[in-house]
Amino acid sequence: MSYSIAIDGPAGAGKSTIARAVAKELSFIYVDTGAMYRAMAYYFLQQGIAENETDKIKNACQHADVSIAYKNGEQKVILNGEDVTPYIRSEAVGNMASKSSPVPEVRAKLTQLQKDLAAKENVVMDGRDIGTCVLPKAQVKVYLTASTHTRAMRRYKELLEKGQSDADIEKIEADIEERDYRDMHREISPLCQAKDAVLVDSSEMTIEEVVKKILSLVKED
Ligand code: DC
Repeated sequence: MSYSIAIDGPAGAGKSTIARAVAKELSFIYVDTGAMYRAMAYYFLQQGIAENETDKIKNACQHADVSIAYKNGEQKVILNGEDVTPYIRSEAVGNMASKSSPVPEVRAKLTQLQKDLAAKENVVMDGRDIGTCVLPKAQVKVYLTASTHTRAMRRYKELLEKGQSDADIEKIEADIEERDYRDMHREISPLCQAKDAVLVDSSEMTIEEVVKKILSLVKED
């Protein structure tokens, strides 16, 4: 039987950095489910669909074939045969992903893909509903969070490093709050801590400390 580690939490909590590092330590596959929702969102934007056009999203979702592949150990997201990994990190795609991910057809399609992957491989999977819905039987579940301010500061520094000198910390913090609210209050699979998940608040922790904490949970299991 394959082994699964589920890491859920709000945007900017450091899930992908931590999940990638844990996967590397254990030689497991890292599955970034947010990237799958982003690839779908990218498709909807390409089709000229607006975030409130739910019927169009439902329909278009049938024509968006999302899969993942690994190149030099890195996850690539494939949309209808094309590697769209470089195009899905913008704020526009992130916002569309947050707004289109509550659509049941979108969730059903991606959830199935995620379950199939975890059935075949040992995975560290991160997202919003992994411990609660996608892998309710995961051997280890973590709810990784950090204060809104810490998360906004991390994003701000990331943008400055990318040369975006006009990044606005207050706007970033407001966007994070808005996205958290949407992800936590949607009807289907809202972001919440699974009953059996271990809460890790990374506000005052280094990446190494968080990785160590998660690896200790694997050893305990
Ligand atoms: O983790 P991220 O920022 O790349 O995710 C983008 C959006 O996708 C996020 O706002 C909510 C959605 N998402 C989801 O609904 N369920 C998941 N398992 C992962 C992401």
